Amino acid sequence: MARPITELARPNILAIRPYVPGKPIEEVERELGLKDVIKLASNENPVGPSPRAVAAMQAAAEKVNFYPDSNCFYLKEDLAQFLGFEPANLIVGNGSDELLKLIAEAFLKEGEEVIYGVPSFVEYEFVTRVMGGQIIEVPLQNLTYDLPAIAEKITSRTKLIFICNPNNPTGTIVGQKEIQAFMDQVPEDVLVVFDEAYYEYVTDAAFPDSLDYVRQGKRVIVLRTFSEIYGLAGLRIGYGIATPDIIDCLMRVREPFNVNSIAQAGAQAALEDQAWIKKVRDLNTQGRDYWYGELTAMGLEYAPTQGNFIFINLGISGAEVSQRLMKLGVIVRPGHVFGYPDYVRVTIGTPEQNERFIAALRMVLTEMGRLNPENK
Ligand SMILES: Cc1ncc(COP(=O)(O)O)c(C=O)c1O
Repeated sequence: MARPITELARPNILAIRPYVPGKPIEEVERELGLKDVIKLASNENPVGPSPRAVAAMQAAAEKVNFYPDSNCFYLKEDLAQFLGFEPANLIVGNGSDELLKLIAEAFLKEGEEVIYGVPSFVEYEFVTRVMGGQIIEVPLQNLTYDLPAIAEKITSRTKLIFICNPNNPTGTIVGQKEIQAFMDQVPEDVLVVFDEAYYEYVTDAAFPDSLDYVRQGKRVIVLRTFSEIYGLAGLRIGYGIATPDIIDCLMRVREPFNVNSIAQAGAQAALEDQAWIKKVRDLNTQGRDYWYGELTAMGLEYAPTQGNFIFINLGISGAEVSQRLMKLGVIVRPGHVFGYPDYVRVTIGTPEQNERFIAALRMVLTEMGRLNPENK
């Protein structure tokens, strides 16, 4: 008799829980017989990518009989110029998801410790488990990364620290002063990863210049992505910035053609169109301010956000509210998946989508007896 397959698998992978993505619009429309469903569940840019990026991708599609440029030469040149670094400081990945995995594959030895805040981005747990690392989770404090508590957890076995800034799902940031005080306590042989997927949405001047640590030659990796404000989530392309020796280690474990040619072309054109990025950021800031006003008028608490999503305390089951919102054609992310059952995380959309969400939320909360008549 063959042994169960689970006995043949590496034991650390058995603890991995499958990722549950937000439901696609088409699935909800099909299942509920609805039209005009809006998805505010996965922090996607509601406006879409720059038309220049779309044109570049269409042109690149004609040439997919050729393998892509393995080294992303032109994109790296553009990014280097944009950021004020050298191409040797850069790695491009199949989304920053891939880069998180490459970091763990390149640096994490079995049993070494990885520290990060919870709730935060689920990939940190995933890549640690894949490599058989030890997970050290540190709860957020006031919905914000608790850097002093993280610093206290550092031991001689610590290899990696993930800092999600702004943090997904709460949208909160840690500022330059807190980061500097933290970095002063991190031993030289610990790698700090700043995951800045929502960097371009940030408007708070206290946000740290994490690239400065790379300039200083510190063991720091900064991750950014074309998935969020650039509106290219479906392409899967993100990048990392670090000292050349760190980049060299990461390059050793990547697949030779990890970034496809359409993604490279789309990202190059998207990067060039900074006017588009400003437009998306401004729209998001306006939407955020509109939501703040409406949520406050409803008597709801929320975390101050520097991303394109808001973590809202409903004071009642977020799963129930999400279910009811879905029936009204609005998909949001219920908070129980992050360990906050009374919350929902909602992506800021276009002005029309925002108004529709607020109206639907008002209706659901009124139905559920959560809103006072004067708040209606
Ligand atoms: C904090 C954070 N990091 C990384 C990612 C992954 O981005 P990408 O699409 O580049 O893999 C996400 C996407 O949701 C995210 O929220």
